[in-house]
Amino acid sequence: MLGITMARWLLPKQDPWSTPFAETLLSQLSLAPGLHILDVASGHGIPAFYLAEQVGSTGRVLGIDLSAGQVARARAIQGTQLPWLSFACHDVRTLPDELPLFDRITGNLSVMFFRPNREETLHGLIRHLRPGGQLVLTFPSLGTFDSLWQRVDRELLRRGHSAERERFHVYLAERPSAKDARRWLSAFAMIGIAVIEQPLEVVSGPGRAFLNHPLLRGGFLDDVYECFEDQRQADDMMRAISADLASFSPLIALRCVMSGWKAAAH
Ligand SMILES: C[S@@+](CC[C@H](N)C(=O)[O-])C[C@H]1O[C@@H](n2cnc3c(N)ncnc32)[C@H](O)[C@@H]1O
Repeated sequence: MLGITMARWLLPKQDPWSTPFAETLLSQLSLAPGLHILDVASGHGIPAFYLAEQVGSTGRVLGIDLSAGQVARARAIQGTQLPWLSFACHDVRTLPDELPLFDRITGNLSVMFFRPNREETLHGLIRHLRPGGQLVLTFPSLGTFDSLWQRVDRELLRRGHSAERERFHVYLAERPSAKDARRWLSAFAMIGIAVIEQPLEVVSGPGRAFLNHPLLRGGFLDDVYECFEDQRQADDMMRAISADLASFSPLIALRCVMSGWKAAAH
């Protein structure tokens, strides 16, 4: 029990993607007033605002994001509120040495951006974790939208797009899994490791509704388009697939949360 009653910065209920992932993150995160937290890939502040309210004015939260636009958006939402919360533009893969040590490091929907060397990025984060501190990250893990990927694969094969199919398989093979997460945390001697996956259904209509779905288009379908040199061919194939939504429904994502503690110094 934190003994904090204000709770003005709840996770946005209407967000069907970031909020469910953030809920899994918070289910593993140990929070208390006064903690210093680094939130990576902070976007427009999920869950940085929530965390800042929970740690209170004796704590500190720094949200970092690669995109200057996202940092500006987060700052605009913040205005003059929660002055112990700040946002800055940094690449999580190359954190500046002068960043201090944190009691907690969080990152909602972050691990997929640790490319190309996820272990190295993770190592960099753990270096900024205080001994006895906790790291909690979420990402859509291997298995996410597999019914869609199988449908895409069949269509690539049927249409004879062999080069595109090869690129697609490289993309598929590169997705991080819950098993990877456990292996990385163990390799860095983290303790109290927990890696948990929970299904999340993403609902869409067929056709344009599917192709322009804000979550699918931005985060996933673009990866298929990137396998094509000829974008008209990509569009043609994806339009056929979008009309066939029933054959790959339900669309299930796996919300994976990975948590570990850095051993306390002796
Ligand atoms: C899916 S959003 C998640 C944002 C927020 N945590 C949320 O849950 O809504 C991913 C964020 O990661 C940021 N990002 C991508 N690559 C990054 C990198 N290398 N370093 C830091 N942030 C990165 C993007 O700009 C984007 O704001």
